[in-house]
Amino acid sequence: MLAAVVLGALALAALIGWFLASRAMRPVDRMTRTARAIGDSGDLTRRLEEPRERDELRRLASTFNDMLARLDQAVGAQRRFLADASHELRSPLAAIRTNVEALLRGADADPTDREESLRAIARETDRMGRLVADLLALARADAGQPLVRKPIELDALLIEAYQQQRRLAEGVNLTLGELEQVEVMGDADRLKQLVLNLVDNALRYTPPGGDVTLDVTREASWALLRVRDTGVGISAEHLPHIFERFYRVDPPRTRHSGGTGLGLAICKWVAEAHGGRIEVASTVDHGSVFTVFLPARTPAVQHSAPAELVATAQR
Ligand SMILES: Nc1ncnc2c1ncn2[C@@H]1O[C@H](COP(=O)(O)OP(=O)(O)OP(=O)(O)O)[C@@H](O)[C@H]1O
Ligand SMILES: [Mg+2]
Repeated sequence: MLAAVVLGALALAALIGWFLASRAMRPVDRMTRTARAIGDSGDLTRRLEEPRERDELRRLASTFNDMLARLDQAVGAQRRFLADASHELRSPLAAIRTNVEALLRGADADPTDREESLRAIARETDRMGRLVADLLALARADAGQPLVRKPIELDALLIEAYQQQRRLAEGVNLTLGELEQVEVMGDADRLKQLVLNLVDNALRYTPPGGDVTLDVTREASWALLRVRDTGVGISAEHLPHIFERFYRVDPPRTRHSGGTGLGLAICKWVAEAHGGRIEVASTVDHGSVFTVFLPARTPAVQHSAPAELVATAQR
């Protein structure tokens, strides 16, 4: 009888155990099925059902849902980027094609028409070249390509950019303002590109007769690089978006400037990759100030040598 009772109790315990376990595992089973369905269909807008009880399973489901939301966002951004990039590449291509066709049809009979077509082709090829270079820079940024860091004198870099852009200023008064000696550890090519993009914008969005001023200063442990202009300014509605890829204040079709809207996205990436940031303040019709903050290099402690030693060295 004892054996029968023990066996009966065991069977009952097993039955209850199985019942409880399968009940507890049911939500896991449902979650697994949904997760598999999401994986199979690639539909990142679906979410796991979160169990009502506040336990580990609910935490798991909500963590998984957060991850799905972020993935959805990242994939959406990539898709938009690709669509915008192809769209931007299509318009110079179309322009080149139209001009080549005109030349083939015999537009070169008239030397003025011929020159106009060739100039348009050259302009569009340039634009496409710039666009491809910008896309490449951003693709490298996304791939997390490391920077080549060396000590860089920011004031020298700014003077170099000034000399390069001065010729392109076309009636805008480009000047150097305050130039403090500040060094940062940085990638020379990238930092140069950042400065050139900012100066290019300032010149492009400032009407003739306006001023563009470049400064480098040091504040505590930061090197501040500032580009000020007295141009058209940016309204508060657009200001939060101008660092986004392909964002332009002018609608693409009405723009006169020919920009693609990647310049500032690159500036933001360069500043952040150096452990810094970029800020903007702007008033419509008065102008804009772009400030780049970069971690300044602490100057090496210079032990001044005793005078007699210097004298010996000079002799
Ligand atoms: N200094 C400025 N003054 C007024 N508007 C500006 C200034 N800098 C940028 N903007 C606005 O912000 C937008 C984005 O600038 P961004 O440099 O990213 O693109 P872009 O100059 O249009 O093209 P590109 O890729 O050739 O630089 C510009 O289209 C312009 O409307
Ligand atoms: Mg620009």
